[in-house]
Amino acid sequence: METQIYKIDKNNIDKDLMKKLGEVIASGGLVAFPTETVYGLGANAYDDEAVKSIYVAKGRPSDNPLIVHFADIDSIKEAVSEFTKEAQILFSHFSPGPLTVILKKSDKLSKTVTAGLDTVAVRIPSDEIARELIKSAKVPIAAPSANISGKPSPTTPKYVIDDMMGRIDAIIEGGDCQVGVESTIIDLSGDVPVILRPGGITYQEIKKYLPDVIIDKHILKSVEKDDRPKCPGMKYKHYAPDADVTVVEGDSEKISSKIKELLSENKHLKTGVISYGVNEYNADLVLSAGNDNKEYAKNLFRVLREFDEACIDVVFAEFCSDDGYGLAVKNRLYKSAGNKVILV
Ligand code: TXA
Ligand code: MG
Repeated sequence: METQIYKIDKNNIDKDLMKKLGEVIASGGLVAFPTETVYGLGANAYDDEAVKSIYVAKGRPSDNPLIVHFADIDSIKEAVSEFTKEAQILFSHFSPGPLTVILKKSDKLSKTVTAGLDTVAVRIPSDEIARELIKSAKVPIAAPSANISGKPSPTTPKYVIDDMMGRIDAIIEGGDCQVGVESTIIDLSGDVPVILRPGGITYQEIKKYLPDVIIDKHILKSVEKDDRPKCPGMKYKHYAPDADVTVVEGDSEKISSKIKELLSENKHLKTGVISYGVNEYNADLVLSAGNDNKEYAKNLFRVLREFDEACIDVVFAEFCSDDGYGLAVKNRLYKSAGNKVILV
């Protein structure tokens, strides 16, 4: 398949071009587009064949449901059987933005979108290009992250092109994603609101409006201090670069001396470090995650891809605190490391 690439300026969106790209979606095609979190790979959520082709393009297991993107609350109401009071509260405070809510679905959606579940994940992105694409397609857009399944999500157009060229109809180049980790997913289909994936909206922010919200235990499941830093198996790997990643977590000074020790043990390999703050290392490639968790979230997926471009074998990632976006960063880091974590 020939993939067309279109560069679009967020501050001066070419409406004619967006109309054409909206028609590609409406007629069953696949278009990769920027959102404020990560790039998405979009198809018409009401078209079963189009949605199936997303799974093929990504190599995604068919039992993993997709998030459906809408331009406004009214159009969400067509896709769900009940738009609950809690959903109303969250959408009024955090949308458009990096929030995904799980609700009971209506019959209108493609069955493939929800992978056979009776619930659907819905979100209203804030990115202007994403919004314009949904409006011009005149249908909701089902979109997972625009990476080959298992790879880090793309936060710059370059990595969308690397993964999706020749597999989809069009790629919109619309600059870097500002949040850098995916949306927060909160399940409102049960008795208690549950955060299933930490992301661009923090637990603390949600708790202000839904005080009984809880966090799914799989997110918080962290490695105990005495656990041996051993990979529990490839089947748990997500967001995984080719390099072998180990997270070194704890107090900043202890992290730095532990990583120095690990670097000297691994001299025979090409080594990389994700540094947080100011520590210096003698590795083949040291990439900065920034100085706080917001910057870490924004940089993480790009940095993981850069290690692969430099053919790095092993990466040691500093991680210091769960504050703010910290839980979202930690969840992605642990997965990219296949839960290989050293607590210091
Ligand atoms: O920020 C984001 O959410 C990005 C951008 C493109 O919007 N999208 C994204 O999609 O991260 P994806 O497919 O990479 O991740 C969607 C996650 C998957 O883990 C999937 O299992 C879960 O959402 N999910 C989707 N529908 C669900 C449902 N009905 N119940 C539970 N989990 C669901
Ligand atoms: Mg994904």
